[in-house]
Amino acid sequence: MKTFVTPKNIIFGWGALEYLKGVQGKKAFIVTDPTMKSLGFVEKVVGYLKEAGLETEAFTEAEPEPSRANVEKGAKAMSEFAPDWIIGLGGGSAIDVGKAMWVLYEYPGISWEQIVAPAAAPLLRQKAQYIAIATTSGTGSEVTCAAVVTNRTLDTPVKEVIVGSEITPDIAITDPELSSQMPPKVTAATGMDALVHAIESYTSIGRFRYR
Ligand SMILES: NC(=O)c1ccc[n+]([C@@H]2O[C@H](COP(=O)([O-])OP(=O)(O)OC[C@H]3O[C@@H](n4cnc5c(N)ncnc54)[C@H](O)[C@@H]3O)[C@@H](O)[C@H]2O)c1
Repeated sequence: MKTFVTPKNIIFGWGALEYLKGVQGKKAFIVTDPTMKSLGFVEKVVGYLKEAGLETEAFTEAEPEPSRANVEKGAKAMSEFAPDWIIGLGGGSAIDVGKAMWVLYEYPGISWEQIVAPAAAPLLRQKAQYIAIATTSGTGSEVTCAAVVTNRTLDTPVKEVIVGSEITPDIAITDPELSSQMPPKVTAATGMDALVHAIESYTSIGRFRYR
């Protein structure tokens, strides 16, 4: 038996961000990075969520290739705010760090060993649901069942993955208006990532195992 899990709603196209005006809930916690703030994307997201009647708070310190410490810091702020929606806004780094904070928010005190592979992501959505807003084109994190966190507590940092269908966002928004602002270097790097994902899907032995 095979299962294919994707977000319930995938909203795409120029202006797709306006979907946020119709979100139903009370409090939204935005996880993003300083670039998104300087580009005015955070302000736009906050504006739409306010139109929907939600109270908002933003954590704008998502690191590139986020560390465990970054996740823990954001999860603390998230727990204090107690949102019913989490919004990951940015490239794979911001979306992933938001996903990992979500796990710690739902399970305060859980250990890293209990959540990173080979363990599976635990049952979520007791406290909040997740909206992922992608601003790069490579990782696909807005629709995947994974969050990559770098363990920098080791002499040689190691990328660890929280993986499982539970961590797939509920809603994915891909609005080209956001990714059109990428500098050429990020466009090239994340475009290459998309191409490699496609090649991997075609060549991986997993494609035989799971079809
Ligand atoms: N969860 C998954 O399924 C999955 C899959 C592959 C990779 N990853 C992880 O994703 C991370 C990399 O994500 P990424 O490649 O999207 O890059 P990123 O999120 O690290 O962003 C790279 C840089 O581009 C900037 N940026 C992002 N969007 C922009 C925009 N629209 N305009 C201007 N600047 C913008 C960011 O601020 C950052 O400085 C890695 O940690 C990788 O391990 C996750």
